[in-house]
Amino acid sequence: MTARKMPVWTPAELHRHLDEGSRFTILDVRNKDEFEAWKIEGKAPVPTVNMPYFDLLDLQDENEEIAAAVARAVPGRLQDKLPASGQILAVCAKGDTSTHVAEGLRRLGYLAANLEGGMAAWGDHYEVRAVEETPRLTLLQISRPARGCLSYMIASGNEAIVVDAARHVDTYTRLAKERGWRISAVLDTHLQADHISGGRALAKLAGVDYWLHPYDSIHPDDLLPATFPFRFLEDGTNFTVGEVGLRAQHLPGHTLGMINPLVDGRYVLTGDTLFIESVGRPDLGGRAETWAPLLFRSLQTLLALPEDTVVLPAHFSNMHEADKTGGYRAPLGALKKHHEGLRLLEHGLPAFVSYTLARLQPHPKAYDDIRRVNTGLLEVDEAKASELELGRNRCALAQHAEARREAA
Ligand SMILES: [Fe+2]
Repeated sequence: MTARKMPVWTPAELHRHLDEGSRFTILDVRNKDEFEAWKIEGKAPVPTVNMPYFDLLDLQDENEEIAAAVARAVPGRLQDKLPASGQILAVCAKGDTSTHVAEGLRRLGYLAANLEGGMAAWGDHYEVRAVEETPRLTLLQISRPARGCLSYMIASGNEAIVVDAARHVDTYTRLAKERGWRISAVLDTHLQADHISGGRALAKLAGVDYWLHPYDSIHPDDLLPATFPFRFLEDGTNFTVGEVGLRAQHLPGHTLGMINPLVDGRYVLTGDTLFIESVGRPDLGGRAETWAPLLFRSLQTLLALPEDTVVLPAHFSNMHEADKTGGYRAPLGALKKHHEGLRLLEHGLPAFVSYTLARLQPHPKAYDDIRRVNTGLLEVDEAKASELELGRNRCALAQHAEARREAA
């Protein structure tokens, strides 16, 4: 029998469907714990069925074709959970098992496709969006949608500065090559806890300095310093890229060494201090009571910037935080009107501290080791790196709705 070509969605196609709010159902065949830890989320909830592969599969004998076994099992085990018509996307960890599941579904007449590369590929997918693209300045927001991580390339003339580079540094070297930019500096706004920074590796590759605030070069649990050389990124450190200036502001709270660079006096890269819908959590160093007041003061400093300053955060929690263009950005003045965390600043420090302390979620265990990797205290291979980074970031303070969902 000639094998039929299995329709696949690449991670980029999945992102487009999530962004456009397309109607489809996900059949995720990973184990329950993997599924609970991390699932595909869109702007609106995507109908999702989790049926672990081994619960779905009931091989008659070891030589039975897997797709045939799936087709035999579906009517009894899944039929009432799947839409009779409409697109189904089969998903597994790496995209192999789900191919057989999608094939089994197609034999039964379902409109099924496979997510190419599975959750691993989805987790490592990047999207590039221009925040500004003028002859004077190109500012790119590079997102890693599955994890909610945002990084930036700020370019003018033939130079570019990279801020908060993610682990797959070829994303940035490829963009620099395509656009004829020389990477002149690599900065991290802070010691990242939720993902492995690509900053140090990218700086080495580009043959330039890696910049970090010295406070964030010390692991907050181990109290051990970074094992690699870096340049001190401090309040008032200035960079020039082509015709544009970048000035570091030290705004502690989420970490002690948090830097929020101002770009061209018009954009502020707020790191994990301020997000589009939330504020950074002050507890990842284990000292929420003492760090929350720092966050309060840092947010007040941000609020004093001109209202048309555009906020560009280092994370998002949900795709619905994107604006009409799909970018995660907002003028400060617009945020002030509806942002719960910012509006609370008016009520003073005690109210802000009790608000933040009431919304802390458990500290993901992997974050300790991720910070060890990011300070050079621990080396991991690709498999371990992916395992540590599993799931969406938890750098933001839980909001009302999210806190309720988490508690449920
Ligand atoms: Fe963070």
